[in-house]
Amino acid sequence: MTILVTGATGVVGRRVVAELLKAGRHVRALTRRPATAALPGEVEVYEGDLEHPESLRAALAGAERMYLFPVPGTASEVMALAAEAGVRRIVDLSGAGADDETFEDGYHVVERAVEASGLDWTHVRPGEFAGNWLDWAPSIRTDRVVRRPYGGAVTQPTHEADVAAVAAAVLLEDGHAGQTYTFAGPEALTTVEQVETIGRAIGERVRFEEQDPVTGREQWIRDGYPAEVVDWLFGMWAESARDPAPVNEEWAAVVPRVTGRPGRTFAEWAAEHAAAFR
Ligand SMILES: NC(=O)c1ccc[n+]([C@@H]2O[C@H](COP(=O)([O-])OP(=O)(O)OC[C@H]3O[C@@H](n4cnc5c(N)ncnc54)[C@H](OP(=O)(O)O)[C@@H]3O)[C@@H](O)[C@H]2O)c1
Repeated sequence: MTILVTGATGVVGRRVVAELLKAGRHVRALTRRPATAALPGEVEVYEGDLEHPESLRAALAGAERMYLFPVPGTASEVMALAAEAGVRRIVDLSGAGADDETFEDGYHVVERAVEASGLDWTHVRPGEFAGNWLDWAPSIRTDRVVRRPYGGAVTQPTHEADVAAVAAAVLLEDGHAGQTYTFAGPEALTTVEQVETIGRAIGERVRFEEQDPVTGREQWIRDGYPAEVVDWLFGMWAESARDPAPVNEEWAAVVPRVTGRPGRTFAEWAAEHAAAFR
């Protein structure tokens, strides 16, 4: 059985590929840049671009299962081609906020396209990736500081390896069709606690400096984040800082249930990525 992994050179996609190879499966990988993909030798690499669905025909031919990296604009066409090619199972990477239809180009667009395809589908909806905080690496490396608003905001960071493990389990095992797995890591941590955890991972004190939200907003927009995304994120964090939620046990239970192993902690993630912060 052939499994096609799109987004295969990504943080999650590479790990999905590794899990499938470990399980002895025949893996095809889609990339826009095969020359620099650096995927394992056993992987059959296909050039293609999800924004140009026709470019996927060769990769789809003969594939029975597929991990879909979310590209909303073309998701319907990609799904139609997948169905035509004989793919039977789709596992789509989505996000915990998929029910929020604030953004026209959001995860819900991909989810609806996947559901309309007539194929067996499973939505993988992770919460905030631990890896987002690689954004802090430059200021931690140079000044051992993180400057941000809402130090008291609580999130439940999700290790990307757990996202891949959930996706791989769904690709490999039966019984997940029609399920929506919304999940996150095992702990709820404030931003300040996450900064301290990175400090422990590198064996140095890392300071948190509370930034005023107006300055923070300007900086994020300068850094390239769309204003509407910044406002949405800051709104959530402001609310969380005012009223920090405890760990969402339902979300924390999904990784152990689906993968059979405990969810990875933020401390594990920080230890694995310590070199980026030193
Ligand atoms: N960050 C979060 O907190 C969070 C939370 C929930 C969900 N998510 C979802 O997770 C995604 C990130 O996953 P990730 O970390 O694995 O991604 P990533 O590291 O950004 O990599 C995505 C890969 O997808 C491929 N890709 C991008 N656009 C493509 C296109 N048009 N056609 C074909 N391939 C394309 C790229 O490969 P090539 O360059 O080799 O083609 C890239 O390596 C986000 O985009 C979001 O949808 C994120």
